[in-house]
Amino acid sequence: SSTCRRDAEGALEVGGVSVTRIAEEAGTPTFVVDETDFRERARAFRDAFATAFAPHAGADVYYAGKAFLCGAVARWVQEDGLGLDVCTGGELAIALRAGFPAERIALHGNNKSDSEIRRALEAGVGRIVIDSLPEIEQVAEIAGQLDVTAPVMLRVTTGVEAHTHEFIATAHEDQKFGLSITSGDAFTAVQQVLASDRLALHGLHSHIGSQIFDVGGFEVAARRVLDLVARIRAELGHTIDHLDLGGGFGVMYNTQHTPSTPEQLAGGIAGIIEKECHELGLEVPHVAFEPGRAIAGPSTLTLYGVGTVKDVRLGGPHHRLYVSVDGGMSDNVRTALYDADYSCLLASRVSDEAPEVVRVVGKHCESGDIVVKDEYMPLDVQRGDLVAVPVTGAYCYSLASNYNHVPRPAVIAVKDGQWRTLVRRESEDDLLALDVG
Ligand code: LLP
Repeated sequence: SSTCRRDAEGALEVGGVSVTRIAEEAGTPTFVVDETDFRERARAFRDAFATAFAPHAGADVYYAGKAFLCGAVARWVQEDGLGLDVCTGGELAIALRAGFPAERIALHGNNKSDSEIRRALEAGVGRIVIDSLPEIEQVAEIAGQLDVTAPVMLRVTTGVEAHTHEFIATAHEDQKFGLSITSGDAFTAVQQVLASDRLALHGLHSHIGSQIFDVGGFEVAARRVLDLVARIRAELGHTIDHLDLGGGFGVMYNTQHTPSTPEQLAGGIAGIIEKECHELGLEVPHVAFEPGRAIAGPSTLTLYGVGTVKDVRLGGPHHRLYVSVDGGMSDNVRTALYDADYSCLLASRVSDEAPEVVRVVGKHCESGDIVVKDEYMPLDVQRGDLVAVPVTGAYCYSLASNYNHVPRPAVIAVKDGQWRTLVRRESEDDLLALDVG
């Protein structure tokens, strides 16, 4: 993150707080969120898109809470002027309890329950993103019971699937999200929503993937959605004036990826949308984006304590040092699940030992419980050292589990030499309290 450095003793310091102090006072493993970094990124996305679309109808940025959400994060995002994308009742509950203004919340999800829809409508969320034909009826019926008009967006699928540097322009449609443009479901959904007196159509939504570095995917997706917008205008006489292109901007987990700045992304995407709209004779709609990873990811590191260090002989001169830490796949499943490529560093001190490639593993009963597959570390790394894994702010805590009855870590925020708890560490008592049989 932006405020990482070494202190006089050689310990890593983040937000002006040394990891040694964090380990002593907060324990390990702990997610350390650099509040300044998180909020600077959030505001950078907000400003970049607002500026790029200022000549048109403007742009909103919604933070995608699935990347990481807690009350404090909801308050930061609110104060910094972003909206919030939630996709379950649980995320909605965290946001509402934090006092997040409901009209700036979007509710997503491919399988919303009646109760989730009811709570969202009662709270007055800004929009419900409808994901299927049956959901149109479901939302309309609940809106009728509450005697309200539900503001809805329709999530359409463009056949574009983007991931890192590649995107497929004709991804197979055999997946659970959205209303297909190709099959005609998207157009049918628009007709049905326009015909309902309980639903107000607030635009179209498309999300093409995550950890994307190539705006080419957004170009093809925008063209397909805007083609649909033109057809809706021509055949139904209705103007779609809001377009949400989802999230997906990539972050640097290792040196292989160089993400664009928010300004570059916003400028590039604005250019694409302007060109497409011009060709189709459409006004540039008001746009929205939903970055999660690109805001939360780089703001956070996971601080682990080192336990067992084992030198495994692999025959001949070959060997591998396995460095076990006090967490693992229960607090970061991304290495095991997606073959994600994290890096790490010895955080509690600097060492003069020659670095060698080691493997950092967790404490779970599974050989796939790898945190960092290959990383250079000084060979004197030992029990009691602290290891930091950067860029763990997105989809690590939010995907955390209690595998092997391991309590989930604490999440703390650091800023200006102070730290405070955002989410307290789970205790064994918390785990035992659930076991009531
Ligand atoms: N909007 C929608 C509708 C989404 O489905 C997602 C992510 C986002 C926004 C935010 O995408 P982001 O900017 O964070 O890439 N667990 C996976 C990522 C799943 C993403 C799901 N949807 C991972 O750890 O890589």
